[in-house]
Amino acid sequence: MEQISTETALDAIPLALFLLGPGRRVRFANRAAREMFGDIPAQAPFVRVLRHPDCLALADAALRGQAPDETEFTVRHPHPATFRARATPLTGAALLSLQDISAEVAAVSMRSEFVANVSHELRSPLTSVLGFIETLLANPEAPPEERKRQLEIMQGEARRMNRLISGLLSLSRIEAEEKLRPEAPVRPAALLRDLCATLRPRAEASGRALILDCPQELEGLEIPGDADQLTQLFVNLVENALAHGGDSDVIVSLGRADSAPGIAGPVACVCVADDGPGIAPEHVARLTERFYRADPARTRSAGGTGLGLAIVKHIVARHRGRLRIESAPGRGARFRVFLPVFPAPRTA
Ligand SMILES: Nc1ncnc2c1ncn2[C@@H]1O[C@H](COP(=O)(O)OP(=O)(O)OP(=O)(O)O)[C@@H](O)[C@H]1O
Ligand SMILES: [Mg+2]
Repeated sequence: MEQISTETALDAIPLALFLLGPGRRVRFANRAAREMFGDIPAQAPFVRVLRHPDCLALADAALRGQAPDETEFTVRHPHPATFRARATPLTGAALLSLQDISAEVAAVSMRSEFVANVSHELRSPLTSVLGFIETLLANPEAPPEERKRQLEIMQGEARRMNRLISGLLSLSRIEAEEKLRPEAPVRPAALLRDLCATLRPRAEASGRALILDCPQELEGLEIPGDADQLTQLFVNLVENALAHGGDSDVIVSLGRADSAPGIAGPVACVCVADDGPGIAPEHVARLTERFYRADPARTRSAGGTGLGLAIVKHIVARHRGRLRIESAPGRGARFRVFLPVFPAPRTA
């Protein structure tokens, strides 16, 4: 086998490695270490690379010949990051490895934040249901109208929990297959027509019109998609316009463009617009976060879970599309979805 130098071998390892001599002087830093911390002059003190006391103590212990050990620490400079450091004693030296585990740490904190959010969202309806059960048990002789009122509130809260669970399941299913781009041909014109026909009675019941604007020449337009998910996407947007758009009519329109921001080829553009109260700019950027509501008290009491737009975002991402939200207080809201269409058939 061809002889290779230790330095070449260490350079091939993706983990940042430092060989430290007495006085924590850097004898060697591998390629990953140089990429992470910049060039380090020969024999420079390691404290110039990182000055976290836990990391320095770990290096010192290994230099004194103590057994291999590891620690985790967070630094602010040169940029905020969390590292897992391992130090191994060598004769008269120490080998220190540093792994940037910031993404891992962020994922763990996102997961616990998510669990805390779900628990909070489920706890309030559950507390309310338990409260009414107690009241009903304590007052078996309560008048029937009063019992009916309490049972109806319980039913509303239970339905809210049910919607929350369905939303979460739906979100996790979409996320699980997000890398898998859907390929079945879908005609957005027909899909939007069916969807508007289904939702129109609900709009009209509250005295509002649901208008579909779809030019005849786009009837045959096809996009690679998942019809069920696309329906779910646009139902969420239309339901939002009906739920949050005041007493405004809702207009759904289909268009086509040669390109869109972030998409190279031709796109189908579906716009769901209302003329309702709109959304303040500080909320717009955060609307697609799970459980985010621009007006928590009002939308929660209206039964909203705050998951609708998170689902929309993931369905759009799975279709390699883009979502644009334009709104201002008092000026209505426009949710535009750009979806790549099938490439034009090649002509010989
Ligand atoms: N057309 C709209 N006009 C004004 N505000 C809107 C509109 N669409 C969405 N919003 C705001 O965005 C928030 C997030 O919407 P999202 O669909 O994620 O949740 P939700 O509608 O509250 O709950 P769910 O979708 O489960 O019913 C809403 O709570 C509302 O404050
Ligand atoms: Mg919604």
